[in-house]
Amino acid sequence: MEITRNTRLKDVIRTASGHDTVARLLYSLGLDLDLITNTPIGLLKLGALEKLSFGKISSSFMDAFIRILNSLGESEFSNEPGQTGIAWWKEAVFYQVYPRSFKDSNGDGIGDIKGIIEKLDYIKYLGADAVWCSPFFDSPNADNGYDIRDYRSVMAEFGTLDDVKQLIKECHDRDIRLIIDLVMNHTSDEHEWFRKALCGDEKYRGYYMWSKKPNNWTSFFSGSAWKYFPQAGEYALHLFADKQIDLNWDNPDVRKEMYDIAGFWLDLGVDGFRLDVVSFISKTEGLPDGDPTVGSLMGFTGIEHYFHGPHLDEYLREFNREVLSPYGAYTVGECPGNGIMMSRMITGDDRGELSQLFSFDHIENPGKKRFDVYDFDLRKMVPELVRWQTEYSDHCWPTLFFENHDNPRICSKADHTGRYRVQISKLIAVLLFTLKGTPYVYQGGELGMTDYPFRDLSEYRDVESLNYFREKTSCGVAEDEAMKMLLYGSRDHARTPMQWSSGKNAGFSDSAPWIGVNPNYTEINAEAEAADPGSVLNCYRSLISLRKTHRTLIYGSFRKIRTSKNLLVYERSGDENFTVVINLTGRRRKNPFSSDSSPVFSNYPDPADALRPYEALIYRR
Ligand code: NOJ
Repeated sequence: MEITRNTRLKDVIRTASGHDTVARLLYSLGLDLDLITNTPIGLLKLGALEKLSFGKISSSFMDAFIRILNSLGESEFSNEPGQTGIAWWKEAVFYQVYPRSFKDSNGDGIGDIKGIIEKLDYIKYLGADAVWCSPFFDSPNADNGYDIRDYRSVMAEFGTLDDVKQLIKECHDRDIRLIIDLVMNHTSDEHEWFRKALCGDEKYRGYYMWSKKPNNWTSFFSGSAWKYFPQAGEYALHLFADKQIDLNWDNPDVRKEMYDIAGFWLDLGVDGFRLDVVSFISKTEGLPDGDPTVGSLMGFTGIEHYFHGPHLDEYLREFNREVLSPYGAYTVGECPGNGIMMSRMITGDDRGELSQLFSFDHIENPGKKRFDVYDFDLRKMVPELVRWQTEYSDHCWPTLFFENHDNPRICSKADHTGRYRVQISKLIAVLLFTLKGTPYVYQGGELGMTDYPFRDLSEYRDVESLNYFREKTSCGVAEDEAMKMLLYGSRDHARTPMQWSSGKNAGFSDSAPWIGVNPNYTEINAEAEAADPGSVLNCYRSLISLRKTHRTLIYGSFRKIRTSKNLLVYERSGDENFTVVINLTGRRRKNPFSSDSSPVFSNYPDPADALRPYEALIYRR
């Protein structure tokens, strides 16, 4: 169906891109898709919005909007109810390791591969079955390894290829699977391909995207997405840092290179990949300007030309056919901006693309961006969470996560006072291990690690934060205001060293770490928490074990029970029945679940009639 200004809104949302784009637009306005499905607004024609907005929606915005809406056409995946197949990765608990901050084995203040090996027994003790390791490849480190110089060798600071082979073996000896983080959208500007391109080698020039006159796309790390290279006499596209140059995936040689690299690592025994911003690999032909209104709504100009580009599904299918399927490799793609229906295109079991993906809408409140100064309201993520439980279809399997290396700590984000750190961290664990999907724990989340009390710009390391500060202050934002934004949104919060013990440098390293250790390590650390039955760590361990012993918590059906907006109450049903009751607020609430049975889990040590702040209970029937 071709969408035009004459298409009714209720028909627009029948297509994958229509559904997701409209849902996202409404979400950012704090509204729900029900507005279109359940009210006469659904009968309005798209063009009417332009007229009704009194100039707020321009004609060029509507053109861009209609182009996005038509970008995918009808959904091709099966809408039939299906039988959810079983798979190891649906049953596994993943643990994400950020190597630089996990464990330093050689006393240089930087985490390394041998350090990860040292701590595999801890990961096993936690109950995780698989590790996602952020990039460890040779890199000049403009973006902590997400700028790869050589995909087949290891960053010297982290160790050697032999160390990684040892890591694969040690994981497998413990029945832990290992997935590695492949960055296929861009390479470092120090990669041999780019260096050859700069020297005028035509073959390698064709690996990247060039322009004499850059379009208006902006970079995720501030400023224009184009950098001028005098040697080439042209600008090269970089959606991220200016040392991360986007590859031209329309060039079959680039795709072949990437498939060979994936094959190299699969031959070494890794079990799959986390695919960095993989949904950005295909860009609209000719790289046209982005619509400024779409840009300001989404935060980045040009995004409609690559967030689910014209050949994305085709390239993912090719990748799967050429490399992934023959090895039976697992994949989880990072797909920012993809809504549910477009995600179904990528992860449907009948589509031959990826196993799973990460979509991020639930980890920011509607209308908010990461650097906004605000307390995350847990209530506001519920509609999004529930939608992924109920509308993603039997053919797809959600990922469950609330933290990673790109986001502040969830317990701090939801409560900057720190008063309810323990309760919120445990509440998050309840969601991770009782919702349907594959849980991803980010290192330190299982300890309830918090944000770092950054005071000075010199304490930050992340290129995104430093660029953001520079951009804001150069646009007239006062320095203390800009510092506050960093304090709320910086990725460095998640990158401070893992807190292993109350010893020197939190037991992370014998020398001063590359980034500050959170001063609260004397209380919040793995050693102390292992010894405390009421700790966040032991809560994670017991919930992981509960999930493993009751397969209903994995494969059982999900049903939300309607109560008030302050609570999240749901049921997982199969051979057994679990009811989860969560108080999403910092105030006492009435417990609507009248049961004579006592809960099998509570995030408070003692029972009570009413629900206390952020209380989370699991009942089994
Ligand atoms: C997403 C990664 O998670 C992030 O850390 C990185 O900066 C960008 N992709 C660019 O590779």
